This record gives sequence, C-alpha cells and structure tokens, in this order.
Amino acid sequence: MKRFSFTGFSSDAAAAVPPRAAMQNHHPKEHLYKILVIGDLGVGKTSIIKRYVHQNFSPNYRATIGVDFALKVLSLEQETVRLQLWDIAGQERFGNMTRVYYREAMGAFIVFDVTRPSTFEAVTKWKEDLDAKLTLSNGKHVSTVLLANKCDQGQDVLTNNGLKMEQFCQENGFVGWFETSAKENINIEEAAQCLVKHIVASENDAVHLEASDTVSPQLESNRSGSCSSCFRY
Ligand code: GTP
Ligand code: MG
Repeated sequence: MKRFSFTGFSSDAAAAVPPRAAMQNHHPKEHLYKILVIGDLGVGKTSIIKRYVHQNFSPNYRATIGVDFALKVLSLEQETVRLQLWDIAGQERFGNMTRVYYREAMGAFIVFDVTRPSTFEAVTKWKEDLDAKLTLSNGKHVSTVLLANKCDQGQDVLTNNGLKMEQFCQENGFVGWFETSAKENINIEEAAQCLVKHIVASENDAVHLEASDTVSPQLESNRSGSCSSCFRY
C-alpha cells in the first residue's frame, strides 16, 4: 500500500518534509507552516499546488496516491515563511490516514470543482473531518480557505452569488473563499496570501478574527472571492 508518494514534486520533496525537530522555528523571523490541500478526487488540488509552486499546468489527470509534498518559500517584510504543502489524494477521503496527514497542520485549503456540484456538497464533510481531527494548541480550528476551482470553465453557477458564498463560509468556519483557476492562474496567489495572513494572525494572537468581520476585497480580476480581514488584493 503506497502512502507516501513523491512523484511530481521530487525537487522539493526532501526539503518539504523535515524531521519533527526541524518543524520548530530556528530563527524568530523564520516560520514553517504545514498547509493541507484537501477536497474530492480530481478537483484540482495538485494542479493548484503546481501552479503556485512551479508556475505550470498540465491538462492531464494523474491521481495523487496517498500524499505529495511541495515547498513554497515566501519573503514577507523581514520574515521568511516556508509553506509545506500537503497534497492529499481525494481518494484518501475520511480514512484513518487523514488523521496522520492532518497532524500539526497550521492551515488548509478545501478545494471543489465548480463544474461538479457533488464536489461542493463534499466540502462540508471535508471541513467536519478536518475540524474533528485537528485543533490548534489554543483549542481553535485551523484557518481554512475554500477554493472554487476551474472557474475558467465558465460554469460558475455555484459561486455566482458571492453573498451566499460568504454566508456559507461564515456558517462553516472558513476564513475566506476564492474562485480559482490553476489553468489560467486566477486568484491562487491571493488565496494563499489570505491563508498565510490568517495563520500569522492566529499564531501571533494579535488579531482576533470574528466571522462577522468578513469584508469583500476589491479584487482586480472580475473573479469573486472574499477573505475576512483583507480589504484589498
Ligand atoms: P486527486 O489527486 O485524484 O485527488 O485529484 P486532484 O484534486 O489533485 O486533481 P488534479 O490537480 O490532478 O486535476 C484533475 C484534472 O483537472 C486534471 O486533468 C487537471 O488538468 C484539471 N484541472 C485542474 N485545475 C484546473 C483548472 O483550474 N481548470 C481546468 N480547466 N482544469 C483543471
Ligand atoms: Mg492530486
């Protein structure tokens, strides 16, 4: 049974999975955050990570087996943030292994495919699974951003009512949502910025985020999205 697959991200894989001790911050201005990317089969999790980390896209579908890893390094003001992205196979759905994969994560993306309503219906199940198996040391749930992927397909009936999506996010404990396209590179950077911002805020405990703080950002593209506490992208 293959549980850990490094295919696709081989160059980053070794760096992306340091031993437990290396998960600690060596320097006060360096942060390492484990980020989960979950959602149903074929919604585009691997493609989103490939776009974000390697700036490329492939139309061919090769199902992830177990979990893949990728590393993205961000320079934020005087801080270096390393995002260890855990690309969990959609077929791992709600199994015992997800508990192991979720351990010590600081944030998550839950992805659905706007062309397949069943993948949206699964979002609440993924979120419940995540919240049931993972809590931060302060007792809170990890920051989670919802990604409505494949928006380039022009079938955004699910997301064309932004207010409903915001309400859905508030009711289900998402810190934000974005229409994304791994193919056309839409809103992926923005969604990652939103997630990192929330992780940093929750880690510093400097900002107390309430669901009622949700504010729609002025997106430069005509694609929708909302990140609570983010005023502008
Ligand atoms: P599993 O590993 O099986 O869980 O699937 P996944 O969620 O990682 O999906 P993957 O990234 O492999 O993408 C599945 C298919 O959707 C592939 O054929 C991709 O090329 C395609 N795809 C992914 N993102 C997009 C997108 O934004 N737009 C379009 N049009 N196709 C996409
Ligand atoms: Mg995959």
